Amino acid sequence: MQTTDTQDFKTTLKLYQERTERAIDEMMPPADTRPAVLHEAMRYSLQAGGKRIRPVLIQAAHAMFPSRLDPMAACVAMECLHTYSLIHDDLPCMDNSDLRRGRATCHKQFDEETALLAGDSLLTWALWFLAEKYHQVPEVAVGLVRDLGHASGSEKLIGGQMEDLIGEKQEPTKERLNFIHRNKTGALITASLTMGIRLCEAPTETVETMREIGHHIGMQFQIVDDILDATADAETLGKPVGADVENGKLTYPALYGLEASYEKTREHTEAAIKACEALGGNNGFLIALVREMEQRVS
Ligand code: IPE
Ligand code: IPE
Ligand code: MG
Ligand code: MG
Ligand code: MG
Repeated sequence: MQTTDTQDFKTTLKLYQERTERAIDEMMPPADTRPAVLHEAMRYSLQAGGKRIRPVLIQAAHAMFPSRLDPMAACVAMECLHTYSLIHDDLPCMDNSDLRRGRATCHKQFDEETALLAGDSLLTWALWFLAEKYHQVPEVAVGLVRDLGHASGSEKLIGGQMEDLIGEKQEPTKERLNFIHRNKTGALITASLTMGIRLCEAPTETVETMREIGHHIGMQFQIVDDILDATADAETLGKPVGADVENGKLTYPALYGLEASYEKTREHTEAAIKACEALGGNNGFLIALVREMEQRVS
């Protein structure tokens, strides 16, 4: 029974990831679109083989209730937005990183100007693409653009990135650490879930519960990211390790130590699962995914 469930989970995860790869390839502008170097750079970073966790979350939420809408355009938009945030995060003026998704970072492979513009292009393309693909159901289209636009703005993702940089230079506090994690990472994870459920045209209470689940998954995800930076190897991770200490980042292991960081991931995992259970619907895959994410090694 246990084995069958695990196999079902792995098959579905692989299916959601493969659908995402295919949709990215089919929906993004071809690499030879003028100016070719810009579109090559966008595809270079986008198609470098990330885990696709946010598109998987969109599909997991979308599968929970009946829907007449295809989630794949939303998945591509989300992965573009996320990839833009990684390209800019790696720039010399930010985390100054040479390795991403097991490859040279965008500014190393191309140059800083191209990386900056490739990031800008992925960000604006994502929001346009949502409006373009879902405009026939205006209420859904507006909900998706609102979620993604808000999550990536100055009070959320960018706000988290700003305080992440400020945190390198100021006294560490728990309050700032939570602000950083909730926003730089939690916001897009939350938006993935709310966008998935909006594609089911779900009622407001369901969207609100998804927000709560997203908060806990987002915190879990970034605490694990911090732990992996301190404990994993670069080959498995596909990005540098030890970079947080080197950059003086405010992280869970730095502030609480490793043991307490593991404990925090457990707490957020359990809280997310409890809220998923209360939501009902076809929640089995999402619950299994939350458990898997706690144990991830890359
Ligand atoms: C890395 O995100 C940045 C964080 C918000 C922690 P992911 O760990 O999802 O990176 P990819 O997409 O798999 O490369
Ligand atoms: C990145 O946080 C969050 C965003 C890109 C918005 P990190 O700086 O910890 O991500 P990694 O470790 O470089 O992937
Ligand atoms: Mg960073
Ligand atoms: Mg970084
Ligand atoms: Mg990190």
